[in-house]
Amino acid sequence: MEAFNDFREQSLLLIEKEMENFINEYTANERLKESMLYSIHAGGKRFRPLLVLATIRSFNKQIQVHDYQVAAALEMIHTYSLIHDDLPAMDNDDLRRGKPTNHKVFGEAHAILAGDGLLTAAFQLLAISHIDLDQKVLLIQLLSKASGTQGMVAGQAGDLQGESRSLSLAELADVHEKKTGALIEFALLAGGILAQQPEEIVNLLGNFAQHLGLAFQIRDDLLDATSSEEELGKKVGRDEVLNKSTYPSLLGLEGARQALEEQLTFCEVTLRKIQQTSSEFEIELLKELVEQLR
Ligand code: IPE
Ligand code: IPE
Ligand code: MG
Ligand code: MG
Ligand code: MG
Repeated sequence: MEAFNDFREQSLLLIEKEMENFINEYTANERLKESMLYSIHAGGKRFRPLLVLATIRSFNKQIQVHDYQVAAALEMIHTYSLIHDDLPAMDNDDLRRGKPTNHKVFGEAHAILAGDGLLTAAFQLLAISHIDLDQKVLLIQLLSKASGTQGMVAGQAGDLQGESRSLSLAELADVHEKKTGALIEFALLAGGILAQQPEEIVNLLGNFAQHLGLAFQIRDDLLDATSSEEELGKKVGRDEVLNKSTYPSLLGLEGARQALEEQLTFCEVTLRKIQQTSSEFEIELLKELVEQLR
């Protein structure tokens, strides 16, 4: 736990710096820059970039500058997805990360542009990063797949379509795996690739991430139904108001809790499988990140 807290503290500062420096240097409009930095600085758990770095550390590799660049690019994409998710045309939320949502402060047009800016900046950052060329192309390909029309964007479309009719459990799991799971899967794949792991291990990391991603969104659905605005820094009870298909709406609170626990158990089983397959792998950091979803 202490090792995890140290890792977290050190990593957060450097992830933050990487995003801030890049946006400051590469944004040619002051108001746009301000709106992008507003959402970046609003905080958040930084779960995805921490996963990238924790995965690299789990194989006993030193974290290098280009690893922070990948982690920062991923968090920039996640932050863009939240800005757009909160827009009136989507979930119409006015509180995010304990602050008024981007469009409440900068207006809808600038919020859309802040999202566009963060999305594009993420790929620009990867393109100019210090990663070896073959790995760089692979990571750009994986991140575009995870964030775009086969991943997060497709999931968000499915999520919106799930407001007007009740999705089946299989359809809902598919939406969750795309809208949230895909970026989490990228975190683990990128970590494995940057830690120079063989394909077998990278595939196992991907399996682990699929369960982790689904668990993450089931928990988000549960928190929307059971937690508080103070705790989450966002409005609660929104899924019911918006008539969303969610795990609690399909399975009830107890059923959703069981589904979450099931996914977390799969996560642990897969971590142990990685441990048995790779003599380099240390389980603690990733286990701690799984534990945070309990
Ligand atoms: C919220 O993500 C949106 C989902 C995909 C569930 P997080 O819960 O990671 O939000 P932040 O980054 O901590 O604000
Ligand atoms: C958002 O899911 C997933 C994204 C891709 C942003 P939600 O709409 O449930 O996220 P919150 O609850 O607003 O954070
Ligand atoms: Mg949404
Ligand atoms: Mg939302
Ligand atoms: Mg939610």
